[in-house]
Amino acid sequence: MTQAQNSEKYTCERVLEVKPWHSPGLVSVKLTRSPGFEFIAGQFARIGLPSTPGADAPDLWRAYSMVSHPEDDYLEFLSVTVPDGQFSPKLAQLSANDCLWVEKAPFGFLTLERFTAAHTLWLICTGTGLSAYLPMLRDTATWTQFKKVVLVHGVRTEDELAYRDWLQSLAQSNEQFIYLPVTSRQRWPGSDLPASRITTAYKNQQLQHVVGEPFEPESARVMLCGNPEMVTEMRALLAEVGFAAGRRGNPGSLAVENYW
Ligand SMILES: Cc1cc2nc3c(=O)[nH]c(=O)nc-3n(C[C@H](O)[C@H](O)[C@H](O)COP(=O)(O)OP(=O)(O)OC[C@H]3O[C@@H](n4cnc5c(N)ncnc54)[C@H](O)[C@@H]3O)c2cc1C
Ligand SMILES: NC(=O)c1ccc[n+]([C@@H]2O[C@H](COP(=O)([O-])OP(=O)(O)OC[C@H]3O[C@@H](n4cnc5c(N)ncnc54)[C@H](OP(=O)(O)O)[C@@H]3O)[C@@H](O)[C@H]2O)c1
Repeated sequence: MTQAQNSEKYTCERVLEVKPWHSPGLVSVKLTRSPGFEFIAGQFARIGLPSTPGADAPDLWRAYSMVSHPEDDYLEFLSVTVPDGQFSPKLAQLSANDCLWVEKAPFGFLTLERFTAAHTLWLICTGTGLSAYLPMLRDTATWTQFKKVVLVHGVRTEDELAYRDWLQSLAQSNEQFIYLPVTSRQRWPGSDLPASRITTAYKNQQLQHVVGEPFEPESARVMLCGNPEMVTEMRALLAEVGFAAGRRGNPGSLAVENYW
């Protein structure tokens, strides 16, 4: 590869590792982090690659939520390879020491600063929407802001449950945390729910029953992240019971992020 150039807008970060998960289309990409790149848990970066292999400037840019924590000295992203996607197949094929360009400023408002303290925080996501929540679970402030934190991760099949071992061990060591994986196309041994979408499990009260917590805006805050159809449907269901996004002067009980 030719000498990669930094610019006023972005830096060339070096790939440290591309780790495949059990599902063939899922990888975690770990890279160096410029000391000037600061962010809040839940934010995303715009990362770039050249459309022509070997070119020394990026022309394809996509948004990726940081999986790594703001205090880690590296960056990490979780990526699903979209068949025929322009960017994600190239990302998955990177090797150690390749350059991945990162815009110097982070983006996004899916952060816990948006919420006042409450009893329960529901972190609801599909697929790689999980990414945004992982650094929040490593923030000590999260555990003082909320008494209970429930992570609901909806995927098609069990092998797509990235970071599952870490999440299970967190649930075992932290009584405030409940991890609820939900698979839509398969029921697997040990799963708490039958094969279901998150929206269906909410509508038939299974989420509330398994977790033992209600969805009430007085005592709960909800984040939704991932598939935009899930976000739209879940948002409409939660609006029926009084959840609303924040407006000026009112922090709100709901925050959402669509991945496409
Ligand atoms: C704020 C934000 C944060 C994001 N964070 C992540 C992240 O952490 N990890 C990640 O993998 N992607 C993330 N994305 C999506 C990412 O930016 C790209 O869209 C994705 O990598 C696919 O790029 P592509 O060029 O291969 O396909 P694109 O042409 O961008 O997308 C083609 C189609 O693939 C599907 N698709 C795109 N992204 C996803 C996805 N993540 N999961 C399932 N289906 C998808 C949609 O149907 C989309 O129309 C994020 C998007 C936004 C807006
Ligand atoms: N996930 C992987 O490991 C993987 C691997 C290789 C390739 N890919 C490709 O990546 C793309 C996206 O895959 P993905 O599975 O990560 O994302 P996805 O299609 O958004 O599915 C993730 C989860 O969201 C659910 N869902 C979809 N629409 C919903 C809605 N309106 N309400 C509630 N839940 C909803 C899905 O249920 P349903 O099952 O009912 O749709 C599934 O459980 C596809 O092109 C796929 O072929 C994925």
